[in-house]
Amino acid sequence: MSTEHGTEKIPTTRLGTGGPEVGVQGLGCMGMSFGYGPTDGDEARATLERALELGVTLYDTADMYGWGENEKFIAPFVRANRDEIVLATKFGIVLDKDDPAKRGVNNDPAYIRSCVEGSLRRLGVDVIDLYYMHRRDVNVPIEETVGAMAELVAEGKVKQLGLSEVTGPELRAAHAVHPIAAVQSEWSVFSRDVEAGVVPAVKELGVTFVPYSPLGRGFLTGAFTNATDELTEGDNRRAMPRFTGENAATNAALLEPVRKLAETRGASLGQVALAWVQQRAQVHGLPVVPIPGTRKRGRIEENTAATRLVLTDSELELLDPIAGQVAGGRYADMNFTSAGRE
Ligand SMILES: NC(=O)c1ccc[n+]([C@@H]2O[C@H](COP(=O)([O-])OP(=O)(O)OC[C@H]3O[C@@H](n4cnc5c(N)ncnc54)[C@H](OP(=O)(O)O)[C@@H]3O)[C@@H](O)[C@H]2O)c1
Repeated sequence: MSTEHGTEKIPTTRLGTGGPEVGVQGLGCMGMSFGYGPTDGDEARATLERALELGVTLYDTADMYGWGENEKFIAPFVRANRDEIVLATKFGIVLDKDDPAKRGVNNDPAYIRSCVEGSLRRLGVDVIDLYYMHRRDVNVPIEETVGAMAELVAEGKVKQLGLSEVTGPELRAAHAVHPIAAVQSEWSVFSRDVEAGVVPAVKELGVTFVPYSPLGRGFLTGAFTNATDELTEGDNRRAMPRFTGENAATNAALLEPVRKLAETRGASLGQVALAWVQQRAQVHGLPVVPIPGTRKRGRIEENTAATRLVLTDSELELLDPIAGQVAGGRYADMNFTSAGRE
């Protein structure tokens, strides 16, 4: 499938009830400063610009990506294109400066307030378009957390609210306090646990689903097959059970139907994975804005071109059994995820 589409823009959809129109694919900016090994800064900046030319308008970061560095990295781009883009950032994961593998969560109202001020300062903006709770802190009632987030909306610091890795009941409780525009959770050919409880609640409430890691953190593209052997020291994927040892070998073999389908359609594996997310969401009757992450211009062109790939029902069926056969969890500690609390 060609990636050549000049300046043809991707289609748009609405973010939450009454929210802004955004391109049907967003851009995950995390890898530009955090988690996935060394980055070429100039190429990453050019990727942000190219994404916007192609109609990508939702840009995703978080305060914990590089201890604020990712927000600072995208800030000049955000400020230069403030009226054209929808800026999403997050609070709630507390990283240990000395050991990024150690993570805590904090949803206290006072902590949220300090986080929003930090994000606004680093991003150099007056308002955040979409502010997410990154992880649920079970020590704080979700009503209290969302109540504090709603105050930020009332004060004009934040426009819309989002939640990441929440369960269906948590989403319903939150939405009763203040409308939630978006739920961001992992959803891909490899990771479908959200389809049981989260997706039905998202649909019922008219929330937009923002699938993160739709490329299975790159594994679904065939770019690496074993994190320990192929990725650099400090790459977060080396600590993810499904990308190492025997699990990685089992999971690499699961890509065979994706590879065959990609060949048949003249597409890349990644394009098949992205088309799958869009179409799986349609099966559930949901609007989605997946946010594949990339730091490379060629890849943003390839990924956005996937919005034009439509898989047939029989092609979708071929990919259906894969998630059930994946070896290893998507995180070492699944208590950190919605599936761990369902
Ligand atoms: N809410 C949460 O808890 C949470 C968790 C994880 C991620 N996120 C967000 O979701 C975004 C996306 O998730 P993700 O980055 O973890 O995973 P992803 O989008 O599934 O995959 C990103 C990886 O795939 C590579 N890649 C991208 N396009 C490719 C292509 N066409 N061909 C080959 N490789 C390609 C990227 O490498 P290059 O960058 O080198 O191109 C990167 O290593 C993040 O950036 C972040 O904003 C949120």
